[in-house]
Amino acid sequence: MSYYALVPAAGSGARMGGELPKQYLPLLGAPMIRHTLDALCAVKQLDAVFVVLAADDAEWDRYDWSPLGGKLVTLRCGGATRAQSVTNGLRAMQELAFPDDWVLVHDAARACITPSQVQHLIAELAQHDVGGILAVPVADTLKRAAPDGCIEATVPRDSLWQAQTPQMFRHGLLLRALEAHPDTVTDEAGAIEALGLRPRLVAADAANLKITYPFDLQLAELILGQRKEIR
Ligand code: CTP
Ligand code: MG
Repeated sequence: MSYYALVPAAGSGARMGGELPKQYLPLLGAPMIRHTLDALCAVKQLDAVFVVLAADDAEWDRYDWSPLGGKLVTLRCGGATRAQSVTNGLRAMQELAFPDDWVLVHDAARACITPSQVQHLIAELAQHDVGGILAVPVADTLKRAAPDGCIEATVPRDSLWQAQTPQMFRHGLLLRALEAHPDTVTDEAGAIEALGLRPRLVAADAANLKITYPFDLQLAELILGQRKEIR
């Protein structure tokens, strides 16, 4: 049985509003996605790291990816939504992956992931029937807003978690789940849940943020910069 990473990187980064698709925005002197792929390629359990690019991606070939070694495989089959990019990537992997192989889907935009977090997820789920995801228990008090911008209710946060990636499922099950629910889910776990299955939550930390808005990029720079100093 093998483990693979699949990295959807075919978005445009509309909320970031930059000149480039956000995965290529500079982060500590390298395109954001370079940090993501560096971490994944360093995980010894992963046999290959598949990157799903948009068909019209004009940035990828501007960089030298050879320092990452031989694990990297590029697939130019991005779709209109994240779920479609992941589904297309899973289909393209079919030549190599067996249905029982594990796939760790990880957002290109979560550039602060560490190899040890990925290894922790793998270790926690290796014996699990369904698979699971990295996630963080909600710490803030949650409010539901009314249309006028006032608070309608306080939502109890007990047992609420924020989903992150990687999300780790077996190739065959995940492809079946996404094909059954192509438009209704926002993450892989959602598709698996829609089949009536129960993915595991594996506790991570807030440093594995999804870089969505300009401030997130500053935060990611601080997190990655501090790790470099410590090393
Ligand atoms: N993604 C993708 N294909 C899409 C949309 C998103 O592969 N059609 C990828 C993004 O490149 C990103 C990950 O999915 O790595 C998470 O998506 P998100 O953070 O929403 O990125 P964008 O869709 O690019 O940003 P936005 O929603 O602000 O446009
Ligand atoms: Mg998006």
